[in-house]
Amino acid sequence: MAVVDPLLPEGDGHTPLGEDDIEGLIPTYITTRGELNAAEQDNIAHALTLAEPSKPELVLDHVYLCRLHKQMFGDVWDWAGQYRPRAMNIGIDPVRIPMAVIDLCENAKIWIEETGAEDLTAARFHHRLVSVHLFRNGNGRHARRAADVLLNSAGVDPFTWGANADLSPEALRSRYLRSLRTADLNPDDLTELLEFARS
Ligand SMILES: Nc1ncnc2c1ncn2[C@@H]1O[C@H](COP(=O)(O)OP(=O)(O)OP(=O)(O)O)[C@@H](O)[C@H]1O
Ligand SMILES: [Mg+2]
Repeated sequence: MAVVDPLLPEGDGHTPLGEDDIEGLIPTYITTRGELNAAEQDNIAHALTLAEPSKPELVLDHVYLCRLHKQMFGDVWDWAGQYRPRAMNIGIDPVRIPMAVIDLCENAKIWIEETGAEDLTAARFHHRLVSVHLFRNGNGRHARRAADVLLNSAGVDPFTWGANADLSPEALRSRYLRSLRTADLNPDDLTELLEFARS
């Protein structure tokens, strides 16, 4: 089941994109943040219609995770599906990304096998993906979708990511980011992220 992400970016639609923002941008008509958001959302809407892996081990695979990013953003960015080459203010040193993703996938297979706790594994997987920060952009949307695909592949309902919490978009985002920061401080306690993801 494909669910629309309630944390999709919106607002400041008329803000022009700067030179740094458009590196690798494919559609030539896009000049504003609003046009970019719309193009990305169309791309993601199409990606949600594509077949999903049928087993967790097929999701927990670095080739699949890159393919998923390309499915979601490949109409808009020529670097979609490729690990970022540069350091950013979130995420690990880019040279360590390929190994970190492989390690994360292997660990997540063990978490599922040993604990059978799909929700906890999907939340941990999400938190680790965004903290590694695989790509130049789209990491939040990709990692939320990756967690949902993992849940689907295990026969579990995808997360709702706060869609039922009756919060404004700003409050939703700040609760989401707060739950990630809490997880940064204590990666063994994902209670807040799990509560948010199931709200
Ligand atoms: N301190 C933080 N501030 C902002 N984002 C953070 C922070 N820590 C982790 N993140 C994660 O990084 C994501 C933003 O990264 P990026 O811009 O690459 O993703 P995105 O999909 O474009 O964003 P969004 O989730 O806002 O749609 C957030 O969604 C969140 O998952
Ligand atoms: Mg972004």
